[in-house]
Amino acid sequence: MPETADTNAAVWKSDIGVSFWKSRDYDKARQDAERRTLMAELLPFAPDEPFTFVDLGAGTGAAARTILDHYSAARAVLADFSPQMMAQGEVELAPYAGRYGYVEFDLTAEDAWPADIPARVDAVISSLAVHHLKDDRKRSLFAEIRAHLAPGGWYLNYDPVTPPDAVVEEAWLRAGDRRDPAAAHKRAHRTPEEQFRYENHVRYMIPLEPQVGFLRAARFEGVDVFWKELDFVIYGGRRPLDG
Ligand SMILES: C[S@@+](CC[C@H](N)C(=O)[O-])C[C@H]1O[C@@H](n2cnc3c(N)ncnc32)[C@H](O)[C@@H]1O
Repeated sequence: MPETADTNAAVWKSDIGVSFWKSRDYDKARQDAERRTLMAELLPFAPDEPFTFVDLGAGTGAAARTILDHYSAARAVLADFSPQMMAQGEVELAPYAGRYGYVEFDLTAEDAWPADIPARVDAVISSLAVHHLKDDRKRSLFAEIRAHLAPGGWYLNYDPVTPPDAVVEEAWLRAGDRRDPAAAHKRAHRTPEEQFRYENHVRYMIPLEPQVGFLRAARFEGVDVFWKELDFVIYGGRRPLDG
């Protein structure tokens, strides 16, 4: 794809982003919910253990709510740069009042974690957000996450990835198109708004392996791809207990 201007803020800090997110396809939303549940299950806490976690690129809080549902004494710090997504999130998080707070955080900014995020947190998650960052920033963000984690604290990321080569791409498309016979037609007939969102979606998306490498380079341990299906993955690792 030819290089296009970075439209990420224009998409998310707008009604386009939030109205698209509210009206997402039922099946996609259900699949995302199952994957976020696995992230909750991977965390090492007892169901009633108090702990604090950060959700980076939290949007309307779907991933954070899943963690809060699994852990009755957990507290969430939801970080995002979109006033529109955060305002909708305040509505959706009303039943969790007292257990969460939003902070404005532009993830593209190096070493600029807002003071409202505690210096040490017990876990960090991100869901469908890190793919919006350039590679250098993915790498440096992972190092910043590690620095903010308590020893033994986990980082888990649920995200889409691009295929590593054309053969894999063909296989992913083949399987996807069998599941959704309308997919090929939809790809070839995007509305201008769908094309605008699509280009933003894929602009900085990269294959899985380098991202796992960024985690290892940031000296996480227990690094694994905990789940993968075609172009969606959950990977992560923890800060070593002694470092
Ligand atoms: C696809 S939504 C996912 C929201 C949520 N994590 C979920 O799983 O439902 C992507 C989110 O990332 C946020 N985002 C994108 N780029 C960002 C950036 N540079 N800094 C902070 N948030 C960003 C958007 O505002 C949006 O809320």
